[in-house]
Amino acid sequence: MTVFPIDKFEGLQTPFYYYDMLLLEETLSTLRNEAQKYDFHIHYAIKANANDRILHRICQYDFGVDCVSGYEMEKALEVGFPADGIFFAGVGKSDWEIELGLNHDIACFNVESLAELEVIHQLAEKVGRKAKVAFRINPNVRANTHHYITTGLDENKFGIGLSELEKVISRMQQMKFIQFEGIHFHIGSQITELDSFKELCLRINELQDWFIAKHLFPKIINVGGGLGVDYEDPDSHPIPDFSAYFKIFKEFLETKPGQEVHFELGRSVVAQCGNLISRVLYVKEGAKKRFAILDAGMTDLIRPALYQAQHRIDNISGFNGDKVRYDVVGPICESSDCFGKALDLPEMKRGNIVAIRSAGAYGEVMVSNYNLRKTPDVYFSDTI
Ligand code: LLP
Repeated sequence: MTVFPIDKFEGLQTPFYYYDMLLLEETLSTLRNEAQKYDFHIHYAIKANANDRILHRICQYDFGVDCVSGYEMEKALEVGFPADGIFFAGVGKSDWEIELGLNHDIACFNVESLAELEVIHQLAEKVGRKAKVAFRINPNVRANTHHYITTGLDENKFGIGLSELEKVISRMQQMKFIQFEGIHFHIGSQITELDSFKELCLRINELQDWFIAKHLFPKIINVGGGLGVDYEDPDSHPIPDFSAYFKIFKEFLETKPGQEVHFELGRSVVAQCGNLISRVLYVKEGAKKRFAILDAGMTDLIRPALYQAQHRIDNISGFNGDKVRYDVVGPICESSDCFGKALDLPEMKRGNIVAIRSAGAYGEVMVSNYNLRKTPDVYFSDTI
């Protein structure tokens, strides 16, 4: 459970991100131990948090890394991930990004369309090296999550539709500079109903048979990421249940000898170790509601505004008065700049420090400078 050094926070300018490095370490070692039980391969989805210190820690665990831009590949290389652990995904890869991947001979391009495959092939021919590819297949599996972060349905822009697959495969079989490595899936993010993953496994089993009938052996089965975290009660579940998650794949995914199962986890690795620390600026009595106005806003953590995400808000100034109902809002000139509506929280006073919890994933990486706001500072539990 994260303990906040409130005396140290008092003198700091808010808002800032605060990372519990011990919790990160415990999460990483649990993840590694659970994955090792089944010989599963883990790639960290760098998009979730690309802070240098966080990445250096993750890098010590010998995981691969899932990148979705050339900049993420550059960052991964800079912090020490080996090129043969880089998996490059994304629906719109630019030529320079593909060239970067080819020049470093990365582990795999996760290809999203026939048009992209053609470009990768041309560029691979130019550098005279085979590009290793996996096909991202849209399995049309519904993940029960927010519609903005569901990705595996026919109407989503991601992956190659089942109806297109035949065409893509037969074209690939004519290509000299493409090496087929496997198949890739990702059905969405913040998935807490593990049954969705079971459904994914069953769909993959069917597809595997289809590939093998075409004399193509997928060496890599990449099942993507998506394991959710407990935003309501991070203290009860600081480490996601990796054990239950992996068991689903062990039980339902039919693997063949020589096959590797890969996972691309972002949120479940870093969400719970991060917190956005903010001060209460004002408590304002509106005509119909009472507002607690913080100095952190949607520019510092956009998830509530963008996905109606609810992050737990704790008043860590040690003030435990009676509960009062608030809309907790930020200072940005947008009505969506709201961290929560009608929350019953211990009474807040100007100057109280609050922790917006579970902000380690898709928090700091999605900061913007709208309203010309400053990028929040960052502190770590072991160096503060
Ligand atoms: N693999 C692929 C292909 C992905 O698109 C993603 C996330 C991941 C892996 C990692 O998923 P995770 O384990 O973190 O669920 N900004 C949103 C989440 C966007 C997720 C994008 N893709 C949010 O704040 O909820």
